Amino acid sequence: MTEALRIGQIAGDQSFTKRCQRLLEEVLQVPRVLLTTSCTHALELAALLLNIQPGDQVIVPSFTFVSTVNAFVVRGAQPVFTDIREDTLNMDEAQVERLLTARTKAIVPVHYAGVGCEMDAIADIASRRGIAVIEDNAHGLFGNYRGRKLGTMGALAALSFHETKNVTCGEGGALILNDARYTERAEILREKGTNRTQFFRGQVDKYTWVDIGSSYVMSDVLAAFLYGQLEAWREIQEQRRRIWELYDRRLSEWARQHGIRTPTVPPHCGQAYHMYYLLLPSLERRTALIEHLKRRGILSVFHYLPLHLSLMGQKFGGKPGDCPVTEDVSARLLRLPFYNSLSELEQEKVVSSLLEF
Ligand SMILES: Cc1ncc(COP(=O)(O)O)c(C=O)c1O
Repeated sequence: MTEALRIGQIAGDQSFTKRCQRLLEEVLQVPRVLLTTSCTHALELAALLLNIQPGDQVIVPSFTFVSTVNAFVVRGAQPVFTDIREDTLNMDEAQVERLLTARTKAIVPVHYAGVGCEMDAIADIASRRGIAVIEDNAHGLFGNYRGRKLGTMGALAALSFHETKNVTCGEGGALILNDARYTERAEILREKGTNRTQFFRGQVDKYTWVDIGSSYVMSDVLAAFLYGQLEAWREIQEQRRRIWELYDRRLSEWARQHGIRTPTVPPHCGQAYHMYYLLLPSLERRTALIEHLKRRGILSVFHYLPLHLSLMGQKFGGKPGDCPVTEDVSARLLRLPFYNSLSELEQEKVVSSLLEF
């Protein structure tokens, strides 16, 4: 960050942005990555690139962050919610086919906790019907599904570098362009609808307004922060693997004895070690456990509330019972402290407090 300031590169798309993009392109083996101001904005860019129009439908899980859905709703789309699988808590691919209509424009799987969705089935349905798949890979950078990296299977994919993520710059994101048809337009829409990127590459002699667009470019000061994180991505992932495995080793037996479920990672999924959660037997037990941990100075948090039952979800026709697994899991899921600098000693305190409960 000091270097970015010293060389006077504090706006976006300069050397640190380029270095981050190149590193991600190399690690993920993808043709083009564009840093954005957030994952939300990467998803909004995806919706613009797909020309989402009022009345179009997008298939989304109800158990996700609001941005997975809102990015399309701001373009006028109608969300069509799927429930999740009981094992991975990912979009239930078996429900997708019957939710398709002539107005379906995209399927947006979310790799919850960095464990891959059943992408073969989703891609198969999408390609048969000519529908785009947009991966919301906010949780799953560096994870893989049947040997393919998460974020490389949809036409487009979005990453998050929010402070809660494995690799972060506070607020930030990226759009992965796996389908080269979208690349040129993505550069324009991200740069306020101008061909500024082509101008800087020397492809045009002045830049001008050529399309709709907005300002989704990350400052190079933040990109410098992000580059420091990305340079250490292997150490970060290794540290998070240790944290995840310690929880799993120390808690699995205790969980089994008390009717608590720990995360399921199918053998064909290389997870991204983003989160460790418990599924308590009831909402009442979860509330009691949050309180128990809080009294010991440990913060544990629940996660998404079902989007189909939110105020906006209800405006789109969502009702109780539409997504029963989501409704059930949402009331019982608890996330344990999980961050890169979490020490083994701190983790042992969490574990012993849980065993005591
Ligand atoms: C699944 C999912 N998608 C999108 C987002 C939005 O990310 P950002 O804060 O980078 O916009 C989040 C945020 O946590 C998320 O969990």
